[in-house]
Amino acid sequence: MKTHKKIFIFKNGNQLADFAIKKWRHIARQSIKEKGRFAVALSGGKSPMEFYRKLTHLKGESFWQKTHVFIVDERAVPFDSPESNFRMIHYGLLKYLDIPQDNVHPIITAGRNLANAALQYENDLIVFFKTSSGGFPEFDLMILGIGEDGHTASLFPGTSALDEKKRLALEVSHKMAKNKRITMTLPVINGAANLFFVIRGRNKSKIVKEVLDGSTSLPAAMIRPGHGNLYFLLETSAATKLPPKILGKMIYP
Ligand code: 6PG
Repeated sequence: MKTHKKIFIFKNGNQLADFAIKKWRHIARQSIKEKGRFAVALSGGKSPMEFYRKLTHLKGESFWQKTHVFIVDERAVPFDSPESNFRMIHYGLLKYLDIPQDNVHPIITAGRNLANAALQYENDLIVFFKTSSGGFPEFDLMILGIGEDGHTASLFPGTSALDEKKRLALEVSHKMAKNKRITMTLPVINGAANLFFVIRGRNKSKIVKEVLDGSTSLPAAMIRPGHGNLYFLLETSAATKLPPKILGKMIYP
């Protein structure tokens, strides 16, 4: 099936966060109604921080009890490192919410062999989603960012991880990344029912244009959920290189 790609451009991060929160609430409620739970995978990086912080305003919602949080990618660092994605997500969001501890699924990298840690996370996904052999999980929602080089999650341009067809999680290393990492693979990301790219800052405007042109094989352009909704949530500063006909039409609200 065809990917439904939607582009929204916001005056600032605050408006972007408000929009993303509304969608989150809708998707969470809908998923719980249909499946009895809401499974979301979160990325690190700076761009989603304001969104995560504002999401804590929804702490009174009953859906947190049935929310399961996974991590899209993680660096091989201890939990207390400023480089840890889970640390940012914990202190910026999870700490304020009433999510049962068993529903939180960090990628544990500290002090572990990374290949084994990736296999362990893959196994966690298989068990949670009851994935059949050769199958892939279907997340209800996934939050992604884009690097200036076109990477997303920890899938970097020109790396063999992009060709992965079987594994759900992989250990990766790249010259642009300070630490080794574990990342969900493309088949897992593209299996999500809803994906938000949260993109902020002028430094992203060039790569956003390339990715949206669709004429590139950059990792972020390989995000094409087969049966899902793909939302590009852009701050105006990240959208300055888009053609005026897109820019003019998409400014929200
Ligand atoms: C990470 C990410 C990565 C991130 C982009 C954008 O661990 O850093 O998962 O893919 O989303 O690098 O990062 P910024 O939002 O900080 O620009």
